Amino acid sequence: MFTIETIQLDHQQTPIGLGSLPKLTWVLKSDKRAVAQTDYQIQLSKGLDFEEVLYDSLYVKSSQSIHVELPGISCEAFTKYFVRVRVKNNKNEETAWQTTYFVTGYVNNQCNASMITIEDSSQLNNEETFYTRKEFRANKEIESVYCVATAFGLYNLYFNGEQVGDYKLTPGWTSYKNNLMYQVYDVSEMVEKGNNTIGAIIGTGWYKGSLGFSRNANMYGDQAGFLCEVHINYADGSHDVIGSDETWVGHLSPILFSNIYDGEIYDARMEIADWHRWGLNSQSWAKVSTIAFDKNILRPQICEPVEVIEQFKPKELFKTPEGDVVLDFGQNMSGLVQMSAEGKKGDVIELNYFEALDKDGNVYLDNLRGAKQTIQYIFGDDESIVYLPSFTFQGFRYARIKTYPGTPKADDFVAMAISSGMESTGTIETSNADVNQLMHNILWGLNGNFVDIPTDCPQRDERLGWTGDAQVFCRTASYLKNCYNFYKKYLTDLAFDQTDEGGVPHVVPDILTGNYDHDDFLSQGTDSAAGWADAAVIMPWTLYQVYGDEEILLAQYDSMKAWIDFMRHHSEDYIWSYKLQFGDWVALDAEEGSYFGATPNELMCASYSAYSTQLFINAAKALGNYEDVVFYSDYHEKIVNKYQSKFFDAKGHMTVQTQTAHIVSLYFDLVPEENKEMVADDLVHLLDKEDGHLVTGFLGTPYFCSALSQNGKVKEAYDLFLKDDFPSWLYQVKMGATTIWEHWDGIKPDGSMWSPDMNSFNHYAYGAIGEWVQRSMVGIEVDEQNPGYRHFYIQPLVDSRFSYVKGSLMTQFGEIKSNWTLEDGNVKLSISVPVNTNCTIVLKQAKEVVDSDITGAMVRNNNGLSVCVGSGMYNITFAV
Ligand code: BGC
Repeated sequence: MFTIETIQLDHQQTPIGLGSLPKLTWVLKSDKRAVAQTDYQIQLSKGLDFEEVLYDSLYVKSSQSIHVELPGISCEAFTKYFVRVRVKNNKNEETAWQTTYFVTGYVNNQCNASMITIEDSSQLNNEETFYTRKEFRANKEIESVYCVATAFGLYNLYFNGEQVGDYKLTPGWTSYKNNLMYQVYDVSEMVEKGNNTIGAIIGTGWYKGSLGFSRNANMYGDQAGFLCEVHINYADGSHDVIGSDETWVGHLSPILFSNIYDGEIYDARMEIADWHRWGLNSQSWAKVSTIAFDKNILRPQICEPVEVIEQFKPKELFKTPEGDVVLDFGQNMSGLVQMSAEGKKGDVIELNYFEALDKDGNVYLDNLRGAKQTIQYIFGDDESIVYLPSFTFQGFRYARIKTYPGTPKADDFVAMAISSGMESTGTIETSNADVNQLMHNILWGLNGNFVDIPTDCPQRDERLGWTGDAQVFCRTASYLKNCYNFYKKYLTDLAFDQTDEGGVPHVVPDILTGNYDHDDFLSQGTDSAAGWADAAVIMPWTLYQVYGDEEILLAQYDSMKAWIDFMRHHSEDYIWSYKLQFGDWVALDAEEGSYFGATPNELMCASYSAYSTQLFINAAKALGNYEDVVFYSDYHEKIVNKYQSKFFDAKGHMTVQTQTAHIVSLYFDLVPEENKEMVADDLVHLLDKEDGHLVTGFLGTPYFCSALSQNGKVKEAYDLFLKDDFPSWLYQVKMGATTIWEHWDGIKPDGSMWSPDMNSFNHYAYGAIGEWVQRSMVGIEVDEQNPGYRHFYIQPLVDSRFSYVKGSLMTQFGEIKSNWTLEDGNVKLSISVPVNTNCTIVLKQAKEVVDSDITGAMVRNNNGLSVCVGSGMYNITFAV
């Protein structure tokens, strides 16, 4: 059987709202080995029956099956297109047609609707929300209806009383001054011939609500607003457009208060029955006004919207020693709690959300800093209610029930975990239960922090897109989920928010610059810190490697280059420095009371600039920009020479005796070849000095195990990985963590807490160890020359403390599997290689092959035994 399993369009299943024709990626499946595509055919049509074909590629001789472009035919706005593909292979087989569809949005950005509001600028700092509504008639038979919506703030949209879609926190958070995403919905089933009503509730969200640890409000504007345009396609071929304008009306909504950090107050006594249905007497409603803005900032939603990804019933409802009634949902997450309750008018339910219990088992709120994380519901006429908040989210595992009419029951509460709705792509399971829990915690670190932007943490008054955190976790995340569109959006905003000089803000979207002059710390600088700003280069390069889509390099190239040039212009003798640096942030080798690790800033700056410059050269090569390759290669060589003369002594040892200095030097290839072994030995000595423990921070930790295992220290890498006393990854697991902590000792062995000023229990940065598990333990490794896993390596490093490790990764070509078991000194490796790819199996630790169903010959070289195979499933047993 030779089949097309799935087709993706611009890295999505069935995208809606596209401004141009999407690129196609299809996954092929076969039960044979060494299967490769030889030809493909693509057709495009407006009808599922393809009777009228708008484009036919005919059979094209090509092996390309990912990111295939359609030719430049112009498409119509707000129209559904079907696209189908079939393929021939090198075994003389042909697939059946596989069909999918997409819907266009604005094709040439011709939005005519206005941003409407009932707020005026005197309502500064208010965090109220408002309703807006409009009645309209559709006079003919309807074929399809698409609705465009966006907001200055956040919106919930309704047609004829029903909520549209189940996305949360739309339109998401972007660099609003430059980039405002709109969503397009297919509302064909919700609009009727005859009378119709559109309604929306608008909250302040990230646009206008107070944000950041200084809690500045009105970051982007002082009026929340809503924009909507309904495109009706009638059966007779005619169209109607109804857009938001001055004819709409508005009214304060029962959501009296909403804020991303603080929560929501809902007063049901303020509800207006049927406010979103036809026939309401809206005489008391205010006329809306319009807010002028540049419509060029409008862009279609390119990433997966935030949605509910899992629901959790309370594991327990209990009373703390201090007498608080608490719900334990068993998992730290970002989310909202849906509550069902009964009460009478004026009764109040209040819930306070938090992450951890203190040493004595009481409610611990201190680490939330200024974030109130409180939901209040005030009963109106309805005695029986089901309520889910709208324009906020909480970072929590627990909720305290502060007030409640009657006795609460666990069954009345459901936690809805929210996250950007990306497809899961990778799995890992091992024979070690603690490691499995660690992998779970890494995944939930991702889930909780990928709420439209990659945040540092989802609970305290921060929740910002810190570039350093995003950068170190990018590769790990790209294994677990398809993060292409999510990061593409983030990188679009990163480029928008770069300084004129090419500096990269510490957080994206940048809300720090210009707002923190009063802050002792951030007044020193809000952009361009080593390891943070390098997100501009490391992330696009990582995405290119993982997803094989050149588009990301093309889109980010200027931004990448601007960052490299920024460092160049701020260099003296090839070592750059600039304002505030975070160094190896929160490393344990910091001086007492300091957040800054012991590795000097100049080493962090120089090492990261060498690394980013090398990656930029790689990107320039991939795009064929040879002038840049020549220029920056020369520059890179000079940085490396300088680095080696400055940070190594005459014998080749490092002059900076920290773990992180050794890690980044080894991992970024800054150690002269002949000294690598010695420097790796030195790193092991530094580890020994700490009784085998890491004392690294944000920049050293991610590459620690790789720096060891890539330099012959496989056992030492496993030793470090498997430590389970403080400080270590598994210490948190032993302490009952369900996500990754910000600090190695967030909760100390005696149950006491790290300082409350910065103690997040859901901070994915140290989860970057996931990358080593994927690339080294499971051993699935990309080939830089053949990005997207078109050719890849399976090169697991086994260790006798595991009896099995199983991993899978859904790539653009299909699923790769690498499973190994270890018994009596023999490793049995079972792998699966997707159709249209090749894999080189590299057995670094193999003494000899005991059994194998691979027909090709194994070759022994410095790297161990290796063999290249085409697609299919293979088993090989070797002695170690
Ligand atoms: C954040 C970090 C971030 C750091 C930089 C913290 O407050 O939570 O994750 O990278 O600041 O200084």
